[in-house]
Amino acid sequence: MVAAPPKLKVRNVHFNFDKVPKHWILGSSIATNFVNSMHVVFPEGEKFFVRSVRRFSKDIKDEHLKKEINSFCGQEGVHAREHQRFWEVMDEQGLKPDWFANFLKVTAFSGKYSYENVSKNLLNRLQPNLGDKFALSVTTALEHYTAIMANALFYEPMATNKNIAPQMLELLHWHASEEIEHKAVCFDVLKEVDDSYWLRVSGMGMATVLLWSYLGIGQIYFISQDKDKSIIKMPIETFLLFKTVIFGEIGKNLSKHLLSYFKRDFHPDDIDDRYLIEKFFKDKTYA
Ligand SMILES: [Fe+2]
Ligand SMILES: [Fe+2]
Repeated sequence: MVAAPPKLKVRNVHFNFDKVPKHWILGSSIATNFVNSMHVVFPEGEKFFVRSVRRFSKDIKDEHLKKEINSFCGQEGVHAREHQRFWEVMDEQGLKPDWFANFLKVTAFSGKYSYENVSKNLLNRLQPNLGDKFALSVTTALEHYTAIMANALFYEPMATNKNIAPQMLELLHWHASEEIEHKAVCFDVLKEVDDSYWLRVSGMGMATVLLWSYLGIGQIYFISQDKDKSIIKMPIETFLLFKTVIFGEIGKNLSKHLLSYFKRDFHPDDIDDRYLIEKFFKDKTYA
């Protein structure tokens, strides 16, 4: 295991989204709308992470970890705000992000019959706090996903200013860096709350279904709203996205690091990648 992570820092950054082209990744509707889906899924997901981890902060004895929970919530709050600010641009582009955001809220989070409410109520009835612990476990698994996606982004050869609008690449790299920076917080909280291996891996099962289903639904929705997509270019764009995500550095990286979560003695710091953040923040005025 590598050295203990440094104290987290909440960076109150504001990004400038002026003149972002409609298809800001590789000029591709398919790739851009996949990440546009993330602009909606991430803020709602991050609010869920904050609710899930805050629920247990009073039970945490370790003072350092208690402080890290606050900084974690601060960082996720700024992430959610900046991704949500981009909705304005998406709205101007005719993508109507509010509809998908509302669908996500009602079915996954705040609706009476949403995933969050139904699973929490059912499991809490089965065993006191089990629903809250499961929500924390799903959060911990999604945090593993964001950390390994972040790691993969730094190794993806296509992630350059040439292929991605520079201000959007900066947003993605900043978010990725902070995901790596705080990758162990929820994991350490879950470990202190309930160290069960099965609780942890079942949370990963649910997280996997939720993440890829909603990202896929969002992508299809935004493509359907995109009046400037080229039907002729779409098969090539789909091939390129699959090539990058499944056979490229992102795919190789994700599968390798995803499987490590199933080791009984896994800890997020086993993946030694904090040097990536140092490298990224080195010349940033907001670091
Ligand atoms: Fe985040
Ligand atoms: Fe995170």
